[in-house]
Amino acid sequence: MSIPLMANNSLPKVELLSEIERLRKEKNAIILAHYYQDPEIQDLADFVGDSLDLSRKAAATDADVIVFCGVRFMAEVAKILSPEKTVVLPDMEAGCSLEDSCPPEEFAKFRAKYPDHLCLTYINCSAAVKAMSDIIVTSSNAEYIINQLPKNQKIVMAPDRHLGAYLAKKTGREMIFWPGSCIVHERFSEKELIKLKAQHPDAPVTAHPECPEYILRHADHVGSTSSILKFVYENPAEKFLVATEPGILHQMQKSAPHKTFIGAPGADGNCNCNQCPYMALNTIEKLYHCLNKLAPQIEVDEVTRIKALAPLNKMFEMSPTMASNRLPEKSGRAS
Ligand code: 13P
Ligand code: SF4
Repeated sequence: MSIPLMANNSLPKVELLSEIERLRKEKNAIILAHYYQDPEIQDLADFVGDSLDLSRKAAATDADVIVFCGVRFMAEVAKILSPEKTVVLPDMEAGCSLEDSCPPEEFAKFRAKYPDHLCLTYINCSAAVKAMSDIIVTSSNAEYIINQLPKNQKIVMAPDRHLGAYLAKKTGREMIFWPGSCIVHERFSEKELIKLKAQHPDAPVTAHPECPEYILRHADHVGSTSSILKFVYENPAEKFLVATEPGILHQMQKSAPHKTFIGAPGADGNCNCNQCPYMALNTIEKLYHCLNKLAPQIEVDEVTRIKALAPLNKMFEMSPTMASNRLPEKSGRAS
């Protein structure tokens, strides 16, 4: 069944939601969503998490279909881990500037220059780049994984130079970085953040490690999206300044409704430029259509998949065993 369009060309919301519900059961589908997704998507998802939580969930689910409400590299990870499942993404254009900053052909040349280095690659990259890497990391587990490596191990880190610089400082390791970055986290303004801190001196600053050092140096806490959520939930402060994509404010408000969360500003002081334009491509309408048609589907060629699976499995082996950063409450509809 397809839903008729309304006069203004949009779909009736109530029917849309009930159709998603019906299709989810009919197709034995699970809806996974990242914290940067639209609040409506987060609320109807079966599970909401950071990149590590979502990849664990994708590997463990017994659903036949994974509807991935996030960006393409995240859905690709789900397909690499669960090749027998149908993995769909509401909008195939939902890419990532970090992935774009690291084309596989260029990365292959970079990799070849450092044959005696271990290649730690941030999960925000293509399957082809993962296939050339030794260990995949996320912002949840990177420090923990690096600390298990021998002190004399030479390391290259790709593609996020800001995450790399943060980790090098945190772990005291020398590393060679691929020069990539996230366009969203690079847009925060240090000048505006300093002004905001002066207006709210009691508000701790929490930041994602994809932010440049000139933002991280003002942060009281740096961590993955799950870790940021846990920090604001557990910290006794009443007000927080948050330097990451504003989609995360939704779970903050849900988990601590009595607290105040203020998004860190961009250069003009109050721009909306810190929204991830790729994450924003996914909408409830597109979610319905991809579940209905089971398209667009993520495909990864088998040779690349097998090669990319090895560094992902290495990541799981070297990660903390439990999802230590998750809140005690369930996010999304189910755990
Ligand atoms: P997390 O793994 O912290 O959720 O980060 C994903 C991401 O793309 C941040 O920009
Ligand atoms: Fe990629 Fe940045 Fe968007 Fe995360 S916020 S998906 S790193 S562009």
